[in-house]
Amino acid sequence: MLRVCFVCLGNICRSPTAEGVFLHLVTQQGLADRFVIDSAGTAGYHVGELPDARSRAAASRRGYRLPSRSRQFVASDFADFDWVLAMDRANQRELLRLARTPTERAKVRLLRSFELTALKDAEVPDPYYGGESGFDEVLDICERACGSLLKELSPGL
Ligand code: 4NP
Repeated sequence: MLRVCFVCLGNICRSPTAEGVFLHLVTQQGLADRFVIDSAGTAGYHVGELPDARSRAAASRRGYRLPSRSRQFVASDFADFDWVLAMDRANQRELLRLARTPTERAKVRLLRSFELTALKDAEVPDPYYGGESGFDEVLDICERACGSLLKELSPGL
């Protein structure tokens, strides 16, 4: 079983999108029972809320469901996940601050570091204060990065 948690700031735009896209890919490949997939935010501003309506609309146009409810990432989550995948470097820094051991620190990666084009420090840009196109851009990035992530993780299954 591989346990993956996607993390952004509010857990209403980027990380629920990554979660929905990864869940879709894994289900499509018949691997749903091999994964625990979740998402969380480093901030608690939107706890309990559904994903942003703009994220849900953009996802649904491409056939994805975003089933999450916003929750804040807590240090004890490190025990429950093998990979903790940050959407941007600020999220990554906050996660590394919460990590208590080298083992926990090693679980933290930028989601885009898995992209095949080796975008080592690339981020998923925050669409919250921008226009509609930002939400499609987040989906484009999540589709690429989650595809690469699954390729990287599935040989270990
Ligand atoms: P997310 O986007 O981190 O992708 O969920 C944001 C959502 C809410 C806020 C910022 C970013 N906010 O400031 O409330």
